[in-house]
Amino acid sequence: MQKSNHSPIPLTSTTAQHPADPPTRHVDAPPPTSALPRREELVAGLNQDLAREYQAIISYVIYSQVLRGAEFMNIAAELKKHAAEELQHALIVANQIDYLGGTPATEPQPVRTSTEARAMLEFDLENETETIRQYRARVLQCEALGEYATGEHIREILVQEQDHLIALATALGRPAPAIAQEPAPPAHRFPKPVAV
Ligand SMILES: [Fe+2]
Ligand SMILES: [Fe+2]
Repeated sequence: MQKSNHSPIPLTSTTAQHPADPPTRHVDAPPPTSALPRREELVAGLNQDLAREYQAIISYVIYSQVLRGAEFMNIAAELKKHAAEELQHALIVANQIDYLGGTPATEPQPVRTSTEARAMLEFDLENETETIRQYRARVLQCEALGEYATGEHIREILVQEQDHLIALATALGRPAPAIAQEPAPPAHRFPKPVAV
């Protein structure tokens, strides 16, 4: 019997392996580091979303109480409802951050204030527009990572954010911004979808 010229390679299991086979990774070894930044990127994005939710809670709590003028009474009642919904969003996003191994943020995005009712509504409309933009990108990120359940939670939040956007735009007497018509977020930054 001819002796092999290949030098033996160290194996981490007792399974016989041909030297030409790819090296076996021990089951306790950490995952490939290339997978880590993407998950961390998703957590970082969700923490920015959480900071925007805190901002929205504070804005709606204040604006719903200080809006003056008969023409804004309906929207003031609506903003109070938004405040409660934003709190639910914050709880859902914080829960998903925890699930993904991150630590939920503690600081809100800066809250803008005004004594003018229309200016307050304009701030809210701008914030909701940016929130929707960011959640649309987050859904793509979740799906690219195979985190479909997290993506589903974000989609459900998006439905309510769109209602907020429409209510604010209507109160300001204009159509809601067509966010879906904007150029798509840079998908090349995300990994390819995971097959299921
Ligand atoms: Fe929200
Ligand atoms: Fe909202």
